[in-house]
Amino acid sequence: MKKKVIAYNRVEKPVLEALQKKYDVTFFKNIDTQNDLDFLKKLSEVEGIIGLELPVDKKLLDHAPHLKIISNVSVGYNNLDMEELTKRNIMATNTPDVLTDTVADTVFGILIATARRIPELDQLVKSGGWITESIEPEYFGMDVHHKKLGIIGMGRIGQAIAKRAHFGFDMEILYHSRSQKPDVEDKFDATYCTLDELLAKSDFVCLITPLTSETVGLIGKREFQLMKKTAIFVNGSRGKTIVEQDLIDALKGGQIAAAGLDVFEKEPIERHNALLHMKNVVTTPHIGSSTHETELKMSELAAYNLEAGLNGQKPPNLVTQPL
Ligand code: GLV
Repeated sequence: MKKKVIAYNRVEKPVLEALQKKYDVTFFKNIDTQNDLDFLKKLSEVEGIIGLELPVDKKLLDHAPHLKIISNVSVGYNNLDMEELTKRNIMATNTPDVLTDTVADTVFGILIATARRIPELDQLVKSGGWITESIEPEYFGMDVHHKKLGIIGMGRIGQAIAKRAHFGFDMEILYHSRSQKPDVEDKFDATYCTLDELLAKSDFVCLITPLTSETVGLIGKREFQLMKKTAIFVNGSRGKTIVEQDLIDALKGGQIAAAGLDVFEKEPIERHNALLHMKNVVTTPHIGSSTHETELKMSELAAYNLEAGLNGQKPPNLVTQPL
């Protein structure tokens, strides 16, 4: 009999089809995982779950007595209750490395778009605001090259951002992370700072740390107050690493100049979110790794992890403690 698996939210089609040949796979999309009866019934039968951002907590795991592995199609795994998974000897995996350059491209793209006001000016041109006259200085942007970039979180993606900034844009790199990284300092001429120092000195503040109990709400009112009034804040991590209302207040009060955001406290974003009505805010719908090439690589890696777990082997990208 084929092993039973749930695929959730996003697994690229060729990968899903390949899994369906070997396993009994049921696909679910955007469901209420606590109340959908079809989902809960399947959950009681499956040995594996593969997918994007399935919120896994004690309550959900109580419905999954046969579960061996949860394979996330993402590098972040803040959707998982790690303690509960470890207690139950259930493996969890993520998809690092394959998305590093793509996320760094996205973050850098958002940074440039915000500084040079590209989405706003695109709208101006398309709505007929540039037919007869050249634009006035009120639409000028801010230089990116040769400025100071503060990176909070110097993991793989932080380093890929530093690489672009240092070699491509002659930027000065400041960084803050859990540990100091001499090799990164050598490669990108980067300077380690305390968080407060980084916030006070940077022209661009880029947040790219994972969401953990230590980083939840890391950037709030006090931190925005420490930033330069001309600073541009870019968030490529998770919405909950900042206090979103404090960002809104900082932008409204002119405490910082602008923000480029790929992630939000509530996703998909709520219609009434004030950030949607601010010209100095560039938004994207959590698309850090969302290119055709990279999504496919992530799904392939997640499937590889899943199969290893289902077969009782140690998956390459295990994030829980090995059994
Ligand atoms: C995307 O946000 C990821 O964690 O892969």
